[in-house]
Amino acid sequence: MKSKASAPGKVILFGEHFVVYGIKAILCAINKRITVTAEKVEGNKISIKSNIGNLELDSNKLISEINSPLKPFYYLADKMIRNQNTGIDIKVESDIPLGVGLGSSSACCVAGAAAISRLFKETTKEEILEMAIEAEKTIFKDTSGADCTVCTYGGIMEYDKKKGFIKIESKPNFHLVIANSNIEHSTNSIVAKVREFKEKNEEEFSRLCDNESKLVEDVLELLKIDNIKKLGEKITENQKYLETIGVSNNKLRDMIQVGQKTSFGAKITGAGGGGCIFALTDMSNLDQTMNEFQSNNYDCFSVKIDFKGLDTF
Ligand code: MEV
Repeated sequence: MKSKASAPGKVILFGEHFVVYGIKAILCAINKRITVTAEKVEGNKISIKSNIGNLELDSNKLISEINSPLKPFYYLADKMIRNQNTGIDIKVESDIPLGVGLGSSSACCVAGAAAISRLFKETTKEEILEMAIEAEKTIFKDTSGADCTVCTYGGIMEYDKKKGFIKIESKPNFHLVIANSNIEHSTNSIVAKVREFKEKNEEEFSRLCDNESKLVEDVLELLKIDNIKKLGEKITENQKYLETIGVSNNKLRDMIQVGQKTSFGAKITGAGGGGCIFALTDMSNLDQTMNEFQSNNYDCFSVKIDFKGLDTF
């Protein structure tokens, strides 16, 4: 018996890092996906094959002893086959660039939780999200849960760590041009770096949280009236806060400047320190913005909002 699920990647439009400290963020799912196929097999081995490598282990191992980015899949499979006489083969296929802030690990956790759990029972989206966040915590213990939530439900949403998410009903028709710095980053260590900044600069951090919170409320209004130009200005303003907390660098700043020439606004998305930036465009400046990045030798591609979220087959 086989079970298959796919989940989209994501872009954090506003509020990364601040969301870890209880400020609302705005995220959208993007039309690039990860697909996970899970199958029960004889024996008690858990085997995972993906384009970032393979992992094959007996069940019942201590999670803390596994050193692999594929650990969340092992965690999910091991949990499901406890007291069951079966092994599991897992295959992961991705069209989301990995480890660059576009939600590849969250999409893996969501599609993995769905494909693996559905080998054993019917599961709801709520249950899948809960399992996915637990699995994500094996590689990123401080996760706010924002990424897994948008990868599960799709669309565009506001997210609050304590209160959960509210879907944003308007369906903005923008295109995001994503440019990749090709600098690897670790979400864990950048989140730790921001914590250090906060501890050393409590007052400033608290002021930045207030500013971010106000900005997010303004953005929610702008989304209602579909004002893309003003939205772009807010993106540029949000980037200033990310600069202040130290998650930017020279290359990201250069890319953002290139993006800002023709788009409505550009900023880091996700943890920063490397990974990707995005520029907000519509059909009037999409090609021009892509050309700007390309003529400055930056890898880029465009995405739209994915309204489907988790899909199971
Ligand atoms: C990472 O994509 C987003 C962060 O805000 C961390 C989190 O929300 O868990 C940096």
